Amino acid sequence: MAIPLQSDLQRWLDSATEAALAAGAVLQHHWGNLTSIDEKGRSGDLVTEADRGAEAAVMAVLQRHLPNEHGILAEESGAGGNPNATLLWAIDPLDGTTNYTHQYPFCAVSIGLLAEGEPVLGVIYDPIHHDLFRAATGLGATLNRRPIHVSATKQLAQSLLVTGFAYDRRETPDNNYAEFCHLTHLTQGVRRGGSAAIDLAYVACGRLDGYWERGLSPWDIAAGIALVREAGGQVTAYDGSTLEVMSGRLLATNGHIHSVMSHTLGQIKPLTLPLLDLPT
Ligand code: IPD
Ligand code: CA
Ligand code: CA
Repeated sequence: MAIPLQSDLQRWLDSATEAALAAGAVLQHHWGNLTSIDEKGRSGDLVTEADRGAEAAVMAVLQRHLPNEHGILAEESGAGGNPNATLLWAIDPLDGTTNYTHQYPFCAVSIGLLAEGEPVLGVIYDPIHHDLFRAATGLGATLNRRPIHVSATKQLAQSLLVTGFAYDRRETPDNNYAEFCHLTHLTQGVRRGGSAAIDLAYVACGRLDGYWERGLSPWDIAAGIALVREAGGQVTAYDGSTLEVMSGRLLATNGHIHSVMSHTLGQIKPLTLPLLDLPT
């Protein structure tokens, strides 16, 4: 993969930052005031006027700065932009919609750039805590413009991890329940943040030591992968092999606990839960 020039990455980082802040303003505006919450097909997969408004804000800024230069893959409006471009923006205007609708304050705008499928740039903005995470290959990773680095935790037993459960969890034995139980046993704890973008950003800045999840889309993870790598961490497939972003399954850590987490995930057998009868 040819890494883009640093001068181009810097310019695109600035455009993505402007887009993320504009979308963040939309999310702040609708916070606690939603009038429409719809399901997108799968039970629990929600979309609101905040998701749509934030995405429109991102598109408007990117269109102004980079008219038809790159491809675009955005959660709510799908594919667009230049279909022949080797660079693709992966955009999640609101990662953590379920949290957002409940006013549980963990959500973010996530804007990543893929070069021939490899994440090379990421901006993640949490509009509730005003945390702005930015990274691009060779330019470092920052939180609110200050350099960040992954944690120094060396042992799995001393680690704090995070994971998530995809919307298809009731339909597949590949539901992450067994992994959650085993890794809860082996660590100081496993959080379920509800925003893959924030989960990855927190690994990048050392608030968390590791993250694994499946069933994700490129817009959930493209920006966060760039952040973790640029902050000194490691991101691979569960078995430690090269990550395919489109697979939606990844292991991201501070590097020190990577092989033990990979080994642990490789040993776990699925756990299927029968649905319980609820009293009527
Ligand atoms: C979801 C969040 C969540 C993850 C889900 C994603 P959305 O994104 O990132 O943490 O577990 O798989 O779909 O739907 O809030 O944009
Ligand atoms: Ca998402
Ligand atoms: Ca979303």
